[in-house]
Amino acid sequence: MRIVLVGPPGAGKGTQAALLAQRLGIPHISTGDLFRANLSQGTELGRKAKAYMDEGRLVPDEITVGMAAERMARPDAGHGFVLDGFPRNIAQAEALDKLLRETGQTLDAVLDLEVPEEEVVRRIAGRRLCRTDSSHIFHVQYNPPRTDGVCDVCGGELYQRDDDREETVRKRLEVYREETEPIIGHYRAQGLVRTISAQDGVAEVTDRALAALPVRD
Ligand code: AP5
Repeated sequence: MRIVLVGPPGAGKGTQAALLAQRLGIPHISTGDLFRANLSQGTELGRKAKAYMDEGRLVPDEITVGMAAERMARPDAGHGFVLDGFPRNIAQAEALDKLLRETGQTLDAVLDLEVPEEEVVRRIAGRRLCRTDSSHIFHVQYNPPRTDGVCDVCGGELYQRDDDREETVRKRLEVYREETEPIIGHYRAQGLVRTISAQDGVAEVTDRALAALPVRD
């Protein structure tokens, strides 16, 4: 199963992608997490990406597409993947179409997570991530860790993302509306879009996402 998750910052893409990946037995591929991992390892790619991330802008396609393609080519993604945060503009969507065509693969669904703007602002304000693995995501109120400041999954330290500051979040929302939302039309033309409300609790949204996926033989 090959799935793309689309939605504004804070919609719950990372949260749902991790759960769907676990349920479907396929990897969760997040370009945001790949950038953050590069950043914490002090790589050149991480250093380049940080300047854009801190301003809430998209990291240039020539960096992002190659990184995503390299991750999708690894053996664990041979039977599918959940893409979270990629593609993020029309050029990336076209690059993904080309990559899939060249490797004889197709997408099964594009899940469009709908959440009102005031709710994404609340979700981002309370978000805490694990320093050891940024795909372990918590919220101080909606999904609190058992022990304050400590990741339930691996015991890592929880922190607040640098780009979760209010003015950067405003910029990320603007970039989403201008650059990312148009990919929904791109995929609607391919008959792949399933729009679901992501406003309820995490488990309800996962059930809704699973029910929206096409049935496979
Ligand atoms: P990225 O890391 O992809 O951030 P984003 O798209 O802005 O999305 P977020 O991670 O903010 O939110 P999310 O939808 O994953 O929500 P989450 O599950 O955490 O990208 C960061 C930056 O990297 C970009 O700005 C850009 O610079 C760069 N980048 C990344 N990909 C790129 C690309 N392809 N091209 C170019 N640049 C790229 O949930 C949010 C909070 O809500 C959490 O606290 C969670 O616990 C809580 N929550 C989740 N679901 C629920 C629920 N149902 N009810 C209550 N609370 C919930």
